[in-house]
Amino acid sequence: MSIVVTGANGNLGRLVVEGLLEKVPADRITAVVRGKEKGARFEALGVRIAVADYNVPGTFEGLFAAGDRVLLISSSEMTADRAAQHRVVIDAARAAGVSLLAYTSAAGGHESPLTEAHRRTEKALAESGLPYVLLRNNWYSEIFVDRLETVVEAGVLVRAAGTGRIASATRADYAAGAVAVLTGTGHENRTYELGGDTAWNFPEFAAELGRRTGREIVYTPVTVEAYTELLVGAGMPELYATILAGADASFAKGELAGTSGELSRLIGRATTQIGETVAAALKR
Ligand SMILES: NC(=O)c1ccc[n+]([C@@H]2O[C@H](COP(=O)([O-])OP(=O)(O)OC[C@H]3O[C@@H](n4cnc5c(N)ncnc54)[C@H](OP(=O)(O)O)[C@@H]3O)[C@@H](O)[C@H]2O)c1
Repeated sequence: MSIVVTGANGNLGRLVVEGLLEKVPADRITAVVRGKEKGARFEALGVRIAVADYNVPGTFEGLFAAGDRVLLISSSEMTADRAAQHRVVIDAARAAGVSLLAYTSAAGGHESPLTEAHRRTEKALAESGLPYVLLRNNWYSEIFVDRLETVVEAGVLVRAAGTGRIASATRADYAAGAVAVLTGTGHENRTYELGGDTAWNFPEFAAELGRRTGREIVYTPVTVEAYTELLVGAGMPELYATILAGADASFAKGELAGTSGELSRLIGRATTQIGETVAAALKR
């Protein structure tokens, strides 16, 4: 019996494997990576590795064993049919008879281009007959501090989210949640709405950034169309610009503002405040 983590070499996956190593022997953990070289860091720790690709169903055949607990980390390939990629893992897990399949889904009950693949994957899981857990993760706080220096330099934070709130948490918080589920009991067929304990908005974010840098940071809310144009003008491919601006529209409507407290209950501690994430980013 192994705890198997797909997407193990990604930002979230690495944190999950690190967290698992604190709770279970290394040889009971399997890291699924896309190339053998990407597994070197895990092998050095005594973690087993398996090489597989969501796009090549045969690579998942025989990868799982009966009784395994699996964390399916959602694909990062935004131009692929991600639900079809995830079904490859679900089918292999069902064929093997795994005892639990946890899936990193998206928070909120709303429909958007980002959530569409997650909802289809959730449906496939429900229909699979497998014991599953939905980890409906809200946004990663780290996404909002990406290229923070540009904002500080300009003294202006432009977004299309109005004053909508976001209950983000850090990848480390979500990873700890996944570890709690993979190593705990009684999570079968549960759906967890996971996010930060405190929701924040961009006016507060700008004020926090201003306090921590001693600079004036002016939050300038714009329309979704204007924000999309701005991102494309800055060199972002249109697909990603549309997705990011669409996410801001969801924030504006309060669709990601829910604070269920489920993540802090799972991990037995408070989630990381956005101010701490801002502070960590400014130290980089
Ligand atoms: N909640 C949020 O705010 C948020 C934000 C961004 C993404 N996400 C979702 O959360 C997931 C994990 O986040 P992250 O930060 O860890 O992303 P990440 O660092 O990009 O990691 C994604 C992982 O998925 C693997 N992967 C991609 N395509 C694959 C394929 N065809 N077959 C097998 N593995 C594949 C990658 O493998 P390689 O190491 O070989 O590249 C990587 O290990 C993302 O993939 C995305 O679905 C959520």
